[in-house]
Amino acid sequence: FNPRLKGKKALVTAGPTQEALDPVRYISNHSTGQMGIAIARELAQNGAAVDLVLGPSSIPVNIPGVRVIPVITAEEMYEASAGIFPEADIAVMAAAVSDYAPVTVSSEKIKKDSGALSLELTRTRDILKTLGERKKAGQLLVGFALENRDEKTYALGKLESKHADLIVLNSLNDEGAGFGFDTNQVTLFEKGGAEIRFGRKPKQEVAADIVDRIIKLL
Ligand code: CTP
Repeated sequence: FNPRLKGKKALVTAGPTQEALDPVRYISNHSTGQMGIAIARELAQNGAAVDLVLGPSSIPVNIPGVRVIPVITAEEMYEASAGIFPEADIAVMAAAVSDYAPVTVSSEKIKKDSGALSLELTRTRDILKTLGERKKAGQLLVGFALENRDEKTYALGKLESKHADLIVLNSLNDEGAGFGFDTNQVTLFEKGGAEIRFGRKPKQEVAADIVDRIIKLL
């Protein structure tokens, strides 16, 4: 428990989103939600009241102090998050939000044909960036970056362009880090210029490191 989180409200997004193509198919990614759920747990255990906006995840979440708001699509995740953000002291965007969604969702199952099939996709809303533009003094915003090259440059770019206070970088080049692993290896980039690299460790311990920094930045 940390007295500095007492009475604080936190918004956490986690998991993937699913963008329907037709009644039986969707576009998604390999996110399990594990990292974001671990952060929600850590914030709640330290005394924050947490709203967890969670995309489709097979991990059951039953954590005292964590209210789960289940969503499916990027648009639903945006709507839920935007509704909660004005009241939040801390927002951690750990979800792997689909960057694109089909322009049209077929109400009938799409039948195969002999030739190739093209899908027209449109950009979804960037939740982190949108909330960053609405951020008020006293609100702390945390984003994630998953990169496989020029990691630092891209992470610093996201810190700036999304108006975040902290970016958690996952490098795809690090072994045992990222989707589907129980461990993760992260580097934190803070608005004040600090860069902190942690070793590979279980995701719950990574979450504790991230929440430690959040508490210091509050
Ligand atoms: N994010 C979001 N809404 C989106 C897309 C991303 O809130 N529609 C958030 C993620 O939760 C994460 C961060 O933005 O905190 C990731 O940034 P993004 O630019 O999507 O990163 P990558 O997908 O790694 O970016 P790129 O396409 O630039 O490689």
